[in-house]
Amino acid sequence: MDTFDLNGANALITGAGQGVGRAIALTLARHNAGTVLINDVNTERAEAVASEVTEAGATGVAAVADVTDYEQVERMVELAAEAGGIDILVNNAGNRGADPGRVQNGNFWELPPSNWDASLEVNLYGPMYCTRAVLPQMIERGAPGRLITIISDAGRVGEPALAAYSAAKGGAASFTRAIAKAVGRYGITANNVAISATRTPATAARMEDPEMVKRAFRNYIVRRPGEPDDIAPVVLLLASPASSWITGQTYPVNGGYALNF
Ligand SMILES: NC(=O)c1ccc[n+]([C@@H]2O[C@H](COP(=O)([O-])OP(=O)(O)OC[C@H]3O[C@@H](n4cnc5c(N)ncnc54)[C@H](O)[C@@H]3O)[C@@H](O)[C@H]2O)c1
Repeated sequence: MDTFDLNGANALITGAGQGVGRAIALTLARHNAGTVLINDVNTERAEAVASEVTEAGATGVAAVADVTDYEQVERMVELAAEAGGIDILVNNAGNRGADPGRVQNGNFWELPPSNWDASLEVNLYGPMYCTRAVLPQMIERGAPGRLITIISDAGRVGEPALAAYSAAKGGAASFTRAIAKAVGRYGITANNVAISATRTPATAARMEDPEMVKRAFRNYIVRRPGEPDDIAPVVLLLASPASSWITGQTYPVNGGYALNF
């Protein structure tokens, strides 16, 4: 038996129109996922990845919704329930959200509290909204359910220039631990994957400067940026039957940037 075989389980991946979410969607599709719902606020991206997922052997469905809007999330999950339900939820949408310009860079103590909203909404409320909306039908469907949240090492060790983002990701990680304890009795596991600097459309421009890359990756044991395909296999592990005895944990996938113990 292949314990990484998803046996037709259905997945919803948020922010999957590009980057890490897209790689996760394609990896789950290649490992025998059933329906893979590609959530994104951007319709074109969601539809493009949904087609790629279908080409990869699963049924890709674009699920356009803003994860920071609970009504939109509820509608998306209702449609997913009608289309067969969700066994695997990957909370991936994050970074600066749908409108990156809302987050200003600068010293935490010099910027207004309103500067925190975009980070908290997409990185903390997004996973909370999606988990809240998915859990009733996941519990009703019966085991095994899988909740996986993509956090950042910023949420484990703190990023001085990204204090609100660090708080949001740390909060999401704690939320996962609480939910893991709450839903274990229903055969549902909940885990985090903590990633560091990864080459995606959100970071591509920064990764093009070789001097910057050399400087930035001095603190990484493996001195290169992560790629979405470095992250996706760990999400597959946590989504698959191979991880039935793993819950409430945070898995770093980070080139050795911050070490676990
Ligand atoms: N790329 C990195 O270096 C890095 C590092 C640490 C953590 N992360 C985390 O990894 C995850 C994926 O990052 P990425 O770089 O692949 O993302 P990205 O920014 O390249 O792409 C994210 C996708 O999410 C969509 N999106 C944004 N806000 C949304 C919302 N409110 N609702 C629905 N969709 C929304 C965007 O349209 C985009 O298609 C995020 O949670 C991010 O915080 C990334």
